[in-house]
Amino acid sequence: MGRVAELGGVSVRTLHHYDEIGLVRPSARTPAGYRAYSAADVERLREVLAYRRLGFGLREVAELVGEGSTDAAAHLHRLRGLLLERRDRADAMISAIDRELDARAKGETVTPEEQLGMLGARLYDAIGGAYPATRRTEPRIAAQIWDALGDARTVLNVGAGTGSYEPLDREVTAVEPSAVMRAQRPAGAAPCLAAGAESLPFADGSFDAAMAVSTVHHWQDPIAGLRELRRVARRVVVLTFDTDEPGWPDRFWLTRDYLPEFTGVLADFPSLAGMAGAIGARAESVPVPWDCTDGLFEAYWRRPGAYLQEHVRRAMSVWTRVGPEVEQRAVRSLGEDLASGRWAERNRDLAELDTADLGLRLLVA
Ligand SMILES: C[S@@+](CC[C@H](N)C(=O)[O-])C[C@H]1O[C@@H](n2cnc3c(N)ncnc32)[C@H](O)[C@@H]1O
Repeated sequence: MGRVAELGGVSVRTLHHYDEIGLVRPSARTPAGYRAYSAADVERLREVLAYRRLGFGLREVAELVGEGSTDAAAHLHRLRGLLLERRDRADAMISAIDRELDARAKGETVTPEEQLGMLGARLYDAIGGAYPATRRTEPRIAAQIWDALGDARTVLNVGAGTGSYEPLDREVTAVEPSAVMRAQRPAGAAPCLAAGAESLPFADGSFDAAMAVSTVHHWQDPIAGLRELRRVARRVVVLTFDTDEPGWPDRFWLTRDYLPEFTGVLADFPSLAGMAGAIGARAESVPVPWDCTDGLFEAYWRRPGAYLQEHVRRAMSVWTRVGPEVEQRAVRSLGEDLASGRWAERNRDLAELDTADLGLRLLVA
């Protein structure tokens, strides 16, 4: 018991208490007849301690771990989802705090709504207000997505945001968890439900096609979400990002030379092969035009000065994910290289290109 307590970072008293209330009962015996933890007990204890660390009360933990032996992988998936949600909320809160600090430093007033709004915000509730400034349908990328939708008449758009890329000549239903994003959908846009990809409120095969554009990397469980799209639709079209290619961070000068921290943002992101495999998809490359009209992270590969603009960066979640210090360092360094001509020298070959393959991929299943 002492060794288990030490490994788990709790006191022996806590373990005794869990034993008394029946939460984790050591079921094995030492040769001398003392109670000891079996491998299954340790697995259960790990779940209990992890849920406790997430702030759940003992009664809730008892419900979460349930009776008897539940699949350990299922528990780990649930824990992972809870942790990612927490991280998402922490990012949202940090971003709201930074904005409030900035406003206070400038002597601006912060309304009670704004003060309370930071609590419980999701990332896109915090940063979504800046989205419409630069994010819109890029016609050449849209043509590729709509082509992949084939002859689908009914289309579900998951992680729909403000409605970019929704085809106007089909019957679209949208799903979007962020209230801030839903509120910014233009009048006359497709009807939009509040839901996440991982649990879609539709029966199997409800749509001819389901699409998801630039959103999978925000999902708590991308593979579960993709399977949901597959469940509710006969065809699935997903615009996502390839991290399988060796040396992928070097594909784009911004991540290679200024923002290596981008790899950390995508550290948990599933492989392209894994995502494709989950829904039986093929992947096609989505070139980014040099004058891309959707201000996504890769949009300004031939217009580097755009990344120096605050409103351009605020519509790209990556900058919030890496945090203000990394952002400031990257922007300062890029600004210096643009002024000195070092950027132009290093990226001379880009001036010749009209499109670039920066890792955007369309999964079509
Ligand atoms: C970069 S925006 C993309 C929006 C839109 N598809 C577009 O192309 O403009 C990402 C969106 O994913 C949404 N999102 C975050 N978590 C999600 C989840 N679990 N399920 C579905 N959408 C989610 C965000 O709220 C946000 O609106």
